[in-house]
This record gives sequence, C-alpha cells and structure tokens, in this order.
Amino acid sequence: MKRRIGIVGFGHLGQYLYNAAFEREDLEVAFVWNRTSETLKGKVPDEYILKDLADFAERKPDLIVEVAHPVISGQYGESFLMHADYMVGSPTALADQAVEDKLRAAAKHHGLYIPSGAFWGGNDIQKMADRGSLKGLRVTMRKHPSSFKLNSPLKEKNDEIEDKQVVLYDGPVRALCPLAPNNVNTMAAACMAAHNLGFDKVQGCIVSDPELTDWHFVEVEVTGPGDVQAGKAFTVSTIRKNPAKVGAVTGSATYASFLSSMIGAMGRGSGVHLC
Ligand SMILES: NC(=O)c1ccc[n+]([C@@H]2O[C@H](COP(=O)([O-])OP(=O)(O)OC[C@H]3O[C@@H](n4cnc5c(N)ncnc54)[C@H](O)[C@@H]3O)[C@@H](O)[C@H]2O)c1
Repeated sequence: MKRRIGIVGFGHLGQYLYNAAFEREDLEVAFVWNRTSETLKGKVPDEYILKDLADFAERKPDLIVEVAHPVISGQYGESFLMHADYMVGSPTALADQAVEDKLRAAAKHHGLYIPSGAFWGGNDIQKMADRGSLKGLRVTMRKHPSSFKLNSPLKEKNDEIEDKQVVLYDGPVRALCPLAPNNVNTMAAACMAAHNLGFDKVQGCIVSDPELTDWHFVEVEVTGPGDVQAGKAFTVSTIRKNPAKVGAVTGSATYASFLSSMIGAMGRGSGVHLC
C-alpha cells in the first residue's frame, strides 16, 4: 500500500520532497500546504492543495512532513501526532522546552521523527544516550558568512566580518536555536539524539569563515566513558564536508539526506526516532 505524505511548506525542501514523492511508487501525496497558496498554483494540481492546515486529518495522511518554519510544531505538532507520524523538518522548534515536552508526550500512538540532516552518527550517539554512556557532545558548524541566516545580535556580528574567520557562538544549543533557527537544525537533531544531555548540555559552535566558498563543514565530537583529564576517555570525532555554493543555507547533500529521512520515517511505532 502506498504511504500518504502530507507536506507542510513549499519552499526549497517542500518542492524537492513533493517531486520525489510523486516519482516514487511507494509514496503518494496526501496534501501540500503552504502559507500562501498562490505559490502552489500551476505547480501542484488543485486536488492536492490543502487550503486550511487545520483540515489536514481529512486527507488521511500516514506521515506529515514539516518543511516550513519552527512555529508549525508548536501550533500543530500535537494534533498532527494524534492522526499520523510526524517528521519535524525544523527541529530547532524543540529548543522551546514546552514544545519538546508537548510533542514527546503526544508521540504515544504515532512516531515523532527527527531527520538527521547534516548530523553524522546520530544513531550511535542515540544508543549511547539510551545507555547513559554519552558524557559530552559538541557540534561545530563552519560556513561562509553569506550562508548564515541569523537574528540579532549574531547577525550584526556576522555582517561585520571582512577577511578572517570569527566564532559567532560557542555554548549550549538551546540559546543558539532562536538566534540561528535555519542554520542549526543539525544541532537540534543532535540534542534530540543525545537525550540524556539535551539542549542545555549539548554544545554548539558556529564559525563564520569567508574562505569557505565551496563547503559547509559540520564537526561532531563525542565523549563517552573514561578519564577525560588523563586523555583516556572514549572519543569519536567526525568532519562532514558538504559541497555548497556561496549563500546556500542548505548544502546539496542535505536534500538527498532529507529524502532518505522521509522514506525512513515509518514503521517504528510511538516515541521519538532519528531518521
Ligand atoms: N533539518 C534539517 O537539516 C534542515 C535542513 C534545511 C532546512 N531545514 C528547515 O526546513 C524548513 C524549510 O527549509 P527550506 O530551505 O525549504 O526553506 P524555504 O525558505 O525555501 O521555504 C520555507 C517555506 O515555508 C514558508 N514559511 C515561512 N515562514 C512561515 C511561517 N511562519 N509559517 C508558515 N509557513 C512559513 C515559506 O512560505 C516557504 O514556502 C526551514 O525551517 C529550515 O530551517 C531543515
């Protein structure tokens, strides 16, 4: 049976996922919603356009994919989860403790899926969190200044950069999410995987580097059991180099990763799952 997908948001990712869902034999489009429905005219047949997002359940989706804005999860996440699996494309929404609590509690009958995005090794990290052996996690992102979409005061700091790299933020991911909601979804996914540390203990660092004209770098540093001071602790470090044009907020490999997440967001029952 085909799995029915509801797509919330029709920007870069929404359009990409819509086309991919159309091409696959195991998926069908249940609905597409966008804040302004004019954007959909001529691109999506009328039968798929959902005018009022509050009517989503009438389309009987199996999976709802949010690729619009973090506010959607706070407003609709709970009701989505009453009727379908829900994949949160903007997981920075979960840095708001009330939203995280609400969605975790609502994932009783369906799964809350978090796409790993540019986050590498998430399942291994989640396993360590499940066993309580995860002691530390740090995610560093390096991009060209034009690839950051920031809010004040990081925006001003980034605008002033000339030719040298600058560390824009280094601290808990929770405070960073509202300052860089479009850039740090990967870090939010990391906080959900590292659930024993969460948004307050997972560390996030963003570095704006004018020399990075062709790449987005994401570095993940994991610390497990053992004596850190003596240099005898379990550690894993990975560096992901994703080709990305100057100004691109989302690197090209992340689109394909997102599609794999959508295909994999199924069959794991209730609770929170990285996909
Ligand atoms: N998890 C990840 O790794 C990852 C990667 C890339 C993007 N994202 C997130 O996915 C979302 C979509 O990304 P995109 O590149 O397609 O962005 P985009 O700007 O191309 O598209 C966003 C769409 O959402 C709509 N929108 C904007 N603000 C809205 C609001 N307040 N309420 C409802 N709709 C709104 C816009 O009209 C647009 O159609 C963003 O939140 C982005 O941060 C996540």
